[in-house]
Amino acid sequence: IPVDPFDLVIFGATGDLARRKILPGLFDRFCDGQMPPEARIIGAARSDMTSEEFRTLVDEAISEFGGALAEDRAAVARFLDALSYETVDAVGEDGWEALRGHLREGFVRAFYFSVGPSLFGDIAERLRSFGLADENSRIVVEKPFGHDLASAKKLNATLAQHFDETQIYRIDHYLGKETVQNLMAVRFGNMLFEPLWNSQFIDHIQITVAETVGVGGRGGYYDKSGAMRDMIQNHLMQLLCLIAMEPPAKFDPDAVRDEKLKVIRALDPVQHHHVVRGQYEAGEGEQSYREDAGDPRSRTESFVALRLNISNWRWAGTPIYLRTGKKLAVRESEIVVVFKETPHSIFGPDAGNHRNVLVIRLQPDEGMTLDVTIKEPGPGGMRLVDVPLDMSFAEALGPGAQAPGAYERLIMDVIRGNQTLFMRGDEVEAAWAWTDPIIESWVARHDVPKPYPPGSSGPGDADLLMRRDKREWREIK
Ligand code: BG6
Repeated sequence: IPVDPFDLVIFGATGDLARRKILPGLFDRFCDGQMPPEARIIGAARSDMTSEEFRTLVDEAISEFGGALAEDRAAVARFLDALSYETVDAVGEDGWEALRGHLREGFVRAFYFSVGPSLFGDIAERLRSFGLADENSRIVVEKPFGHDLASAKKLNATLAQHFDETQIYRIDHYLGKETVQNLMAVRFGNMLFEPLWNSQFIDHIQITVAETVGVGGRGGYYDKSGAMRDMIQNHLMQLLCLIAMEPPAKFDPDAVRDEKLKVIRALDPVQHHHVVRGQYEAGEGEQSYREDAGDPRSRTESFVALRLNISNWRWAGTPIYLRTGKKLAVRESEIVVVFKETPHSIFGPDAGNHRNVLVIRLQPDEGMTLDVTIKEPGPGGMRLVDVPLDMSFAEALGPGAQAPGAYERLIMDVIRGNQTLFMRGDEVEAAWAWTDPIIESWVARHDVPKPYPPGSSGPGDADLLMRRDKREWREIK
């Protein structure tokens, strides 16, 4: 279904994110017929460039990152026709009047801030003072949304001077991923899971986002953030919220975000010994984190594993373990829900310990597995074995069910005016309020991350964290 015709201005249009994700994603929506022919995309950045040069840059970006669709030259040409460019000084006066000249009356108007947060305030202010934005316009802001609670509050306050909360779309691209949304469908669209979804039946939950890439090429940004700020505070926190929240009364923006916020506010402070930080070492032909970051003494973590507790009626007593890192053995994201053992085994001690495990795989091969205990076939008596009910979404739904990428889906939601999959200001602040003390305690203790070899599952201490609780991580392989 096409969205309403729109004017979308992308600040930072020549940058990495725009080239890799935003523009190829919009091209994808264009080919799919969701971006109407009247829609216009206006690139804006500091670089001196003509619209023609910008189209060439986007053409190259689509060839490089646009997948198979990029081979349809006629479609690329039609898409490029919808593009123009204006050189704009985000902190000065130049270019703003000209940029206004690109905008048309009567169309949805959205401004994508694909720039560092230090420019958010300047751009927001100029959108208003030069009369580019009105009370129906929307702004889209990228992470990192702040560096800590104080800076996030400041950013929220600055944006609030110029825009209402209903106009601000804070992107966490994990919320645009198909399987992440599927978490809500699985939990609230089935009768099977929700009655068991609490500490009475669930022993613990693991959330793992493992990556094989290092930080090479973006070490400058990353070294000031680390895995805690780059992944846990936002992406893993969002996954946690969707897994742990109460059922919202309806699938609408504030109903969903109210429930997510309650989860974050119910988090206990994390104890120091429940957190493990790691940093990858050099491997065969591979640089160490410190080399990638360009700082031989860097103490920034490229891996975090932690145990947290949600202090509420549903979850008290069920620990949740988060784990994420770079340069690990595989690229794999999954949520593992480990149910408790049955209260009593009628098959006697020889039958062993068994429990149901639900694995929701987010990437790369999206799907779900549920381990069910059955009888081991054969005459050997009542011996039990766990076998997976395994569902790959691609196999179950067919290749036609190929979902759009996270960014393009979220941008279409901006045009539709649907904020459900965007973070509200109070949510971001609550997440920082929980994260800050963990980071502060590392600083206060001069904590040095534990080294781990590239291609591993992180430092051994992450396994110890589990073993102390008589549990273990589901192996990443
Ligand atoms: C980004 C982080 O937000 O998410 C990156 O800044 C990380 O460090 C990326 O690699 C992971 O996203 P995805 O979609 O590849 O899982």
